[in-house]
Amino acid sequence: MPTTLLRNLPIRLRRNRSSEAVRRMLQETTLHPADLVQPLFLIEGDNRTSPISSMPGIERLSVDHAVKEAAYLHNKGIQAIALFPYIDPSQRTMSAEEAWNRNGLFARAIRTIKDAIPSLCVIGDVALDPFTSHGHDGLVNNKGAILNDETIECLIQMALMQADAGIDFVAPSDMMDGRVGAIRQALDQNGYIHVGILAYSAKYASALYAPFRDALGTRIAFGDKKTYQLNPANSREAMLEAMLDEQEGADILMVKPASLYLDIIAKLRTQSHRPIAAYHVSGEYAMVMAAHQMGWLDADKVFFETLLSIKRAGADLIFTYATKRMIEHIYPFHLKGAQSKSIQILSNRIKKRG
Ligand code: PBG
Repeated sequence: MPTTLLRNLPIRLRRNRSSEAVRRMLQETTLHPADLVQPLFLIEGDNRTSPISSMPGIERLSVDHAVKEAAYLHNKGIQAIALFPYIDPSQRTMSAEEAWNRNGLFARAIRTIKDAIPSLCVIGDVALDPFTSHGHDGLVNNKGAILNDETIECLIQMALMQADAGIDFVAPSDMMDGRVGAIRQALDQNGYIHVGILAYSAKYASALYAPFRDALGTRIAFGDKKTYQLNPANSREAMLEAMLDEQEGADILMVKPASLYLDIIAKLRTQSHRPIAAYHVSGEYAMVMAAHQMGWLDADKVFFETLLSIKRAGADLIFTYATKRMIEHIYPFHLKGAQSKSIQILSNRIKKRG
């Protein structure tokens, strides 16, 4: 090899970026509709939708609308939805009994959607906050402390209710200690060995959940969630949470929020062989939509870049409110854009020749 000659030549990395075709064939990370999970907010009633002011483009849906939305998404290649019920304030109590009501909104929605679209993966949130009068994810004592083990008993009932209704994955988002193992044991003992657990393992006490709390009408009556959700300053603690959930039987580990916590996703990727999900949460959606509405940036381009980055960091699966926007705009646009351009060039050449 004439090494002296080579040393005098510049290394031209731009060759690998020189055309759409080259960029595409060398692209390291790609987004696919199967990577995305659409969260759906449910309300009682028939043929009802209600907008969420802090989440432009997202509505609460009655079960019939949720079925239609799920079918639309599934036809476009989306493989999973995650359900979150808006519970009427009159049904919220200190002990959250509505959470495991086998004829309640949640159970009916799971049954109806699984009956209508059996091939769609349905993920059910397991936490008490939509059902408690105080908005916390757990039961509280008279001093306002969250009761860990008593809450787990409720979460077990909730998971069994969802399993009975036909859920594919239960997703404990409460951050109580030991809940994954307890739920796994209860599912197995009741014959639901096929029901998976997607554990919100590294769920941070984030300011970015505010629009979600608007969507479900949950107000925290006192205190905050810092005694159970993780301190955003901590990374090793997140690894411990995830490793414990894995040992307790979690099938999928989740990091939440996503885009501010890419280091956590990347680190967990090196430490676990389980699939990793990331939740691009309500506040991450709302910030971009607000700027989009001001004309300051293009929401679809920002979402595409954000979701790609979340995947590049190591997530296999992304919960995002931008799912529908992505499949309606960005994903087909990305394919069609280049294709239609080259077709145009071709037909122009043919015209010139003819
Ligand atoms: C509650 C729950 C929250 C989210 C999912 N499940 C909010 C919270 O912990 O207060 C947030 C999701 C989002 O912001 O999109 N168990």
